Amino acid sequence: MAGLTLRHIEKTVGRTTILRDVSLEAAEGEFVVLLGPSGCGKSTLLRIIAGLESPTRGSVRIGNRPVDRLPPQERDIAMVFQHYALYPHLTVRANLAFGLTMRKEAPSVIESRIAETATLLDIHDLLDRKPRELSGGQRQRVAMGRAIVRKPRLFLFDEPLSNLDARLRASMRVELQKLHQCLGTTTVYVTHDQVEAMTLGQTIVVMNHGGIQQIGAPGRIYHEPANPFVAGFIGNPPMNLFEGSCRRRGRELDFRAGALTLTMQAPVQDTDAAASGHATLGLRPEDIALAPPGPGQSAFEGVIDVIENLGGDHLVHLVVGGQRVMVRTAPDAARRAGDVVTASWSTNALHLFINRQRVPVRPQGP
Ligand SMILES: Nc1ncnc2c1ncn2[C@@H]1O[C@H](COP(=O)(O)OP(=O)(O)O)[C@@H](O)[C@H]1O
Ligand SMILES: [Mg+2]
Repeated sequence: MAGLTLRHIEKTVGRTTILRDVSLEAAEGEFVVLLGPSGCGKSTLLRIIAGLESPTRGSVRIGNRPVDRLPPQERDIAMVFQHYALYPHLTVRANLAFGLTMRKEAPSVIESRIAETATLLDIHDLLDRKPRELSGGQRQRVAMGRAIVRKPRLFLFDEPLSNLDARLRASMRVELQKLHQCLGTTTVYVTHDQVEAMTLGQTIVVMNHGGIQQIGAPGRIYHEPANPFVAGFIGNPPMNLFEGSCRRRGRELDFRAGALTLTMQAPVQDTDAAASGHATLGLRPEDIALAPPGPGQSAFEGVIDVIENLGGDHLVHLVVGGQRVMVRTAPDAARRAGDVVTASWSTNALHLFINRQRVPVRPQGP
């Protein structure tokens, strides 16, 4: 059964298009992450699902029920925001009870739901405190408790961890994952943080400029980005992207990028899909080695500009034919800025986009 279905959602305000033709489906119990840069329309989409805003066009179903005409309180959803929005004058217990009291649940039901939620979130000790007596992490936990206690059909999270420090964010990520394993409630989670998206999402929806760029499992989005935007957005440090042109030669392709006279042959699986034209070539910093090319590998020479120490690894910034290339590699104490080095990679690590569409590349045969 579907947990959530969005069909052709559009939102325009005046002459500005905020969302364009957004369609997606979440299975019952699925954890879906909306990922994209600030301003791409994530919050607007979440607010449309919640019923806090109406779309210009398109429809929303929660479960198998169309909710387009229902106000937020009748959509059976619970939302958690970046700003916790707890009632400051009420205790944690009263904050948790609030929504249930409004729904006129029996006191015994409210009591047992609060107990259950407090156990799940480990907040028994906090129940009689006021929000000002809590740390940021504890407040966010209570805010989640307020969502959980209502047993909604759908959870909506809008960057709930972005106000927390890095360490707390990391531990809350794990807790959110466990919580979802426990409750199995369909969830839509908005973030601009790719680490959160990768660790939490069963499905990631990458957005840019109000439109969907790619929908897929985290591994798919990382290994097979659909276009140069997704390729450059996912991964840290980001993928090296070279803008150039492609020319087909029989069943093979030549790629050239400006001063970087990187000519390579990339046999394509479907030669019809690969036309000559504008092309982007992507190589992840972790897929390049500072070593001579082995069998089936290609290489270029570059000059080391800067070496960044990442702790375990080094991030080596190269200048190659006027372009910057980042390489993530094991430390080598002998390496210095100014050194000329050989960088090599395997063809199957290449990401090739012709006219902004992914073209599958397979390794060259013997
Ligand atoms: N009511 C509105 N009127 C005009 N522009 C809006 C309105 N709401 C949002 N926007 C604009 O729509 C874009 C998307 O906003 P938002 O959904 O908040 O993005 P995100 O959550 O991805 O950062 C932004 O450029 C924002 O300024
Ligand atoms: Mg937002």
